[in-house]
Amino acid sequence: MKEVFFEKEEHIVSKTDTRGMITYCNPLFIKMSGYTKKELVGKPHNIIRHQDMPKTVFKILWDTLAQGKEVFAYVKNKTKCGNYYWVYANVTPSFDSSNRVIGYFSVRRSPDKNKVKTIEQVYSKLSRIEKMQGVDAALKELAVMTGGVPYENFIQQI
Ligand SMILES: Cc1cc2nc3c(=O)[nH]c(=O)nc-3n(C[C@H](O)[C@H](O)[C@H](O)COP(=O)(O)O)c2cc1C
Repeated sequence: MKEVFFEKEEHIVSKTDTRGMITYCNPLFIKMSGYTKKELVGKPHNIIRHQDMPKTVFKILWDTLAQGKEVFAYVKNKTKCGNYYWVYANVTPSFDSSNRVIGYFSVRRSPDKNKVKTIEQVYSKLSRIEKMQGVDAALKELAVMTGGVPYENFIQQI
């Protein structure tokens, strides 16, 4: 399966409800994923999950969002036909006028290729550890790999 790309100045956008069900996606999201809008809206966001993505990264994503904070992450996504594309995602909570979280919003940019190479190595180690010892062990190993720097800071430094 091959890697597919989008332009540096383009953005892949989606919105979800609080459970991660897709409520909106922009034309580039639809094009990159290979699905139709109808196949995407109302479906869980893991419809484009790639098997190489460690659970650990999604745990960090959801734990950060649960604190009402935005999160940045490198994510490898799978298209309908099995190809893949890397994104640098910024996921933010959306609030109503009473400051309650009503959903989430993700804007993805095309990542730097060298940074993806570094991330691929980190993610492959995390996935290996998860399979043998679980997500908590992988989180500990991530801290070792980054020298104790939290994921959000680590990805800004690489
Ligand atoms: C706004 C938003 C955008 C998301 N975007 C993606 C995405 O592009 N790719 C992905 O695999 N998961 C994405 N997720 C995370 C998924 O909801 C899910 O946690 C992940 O795919 C792991 O699925 P699993 O828990 O079923 O293994 C997103 C979540 C939110 C809230």
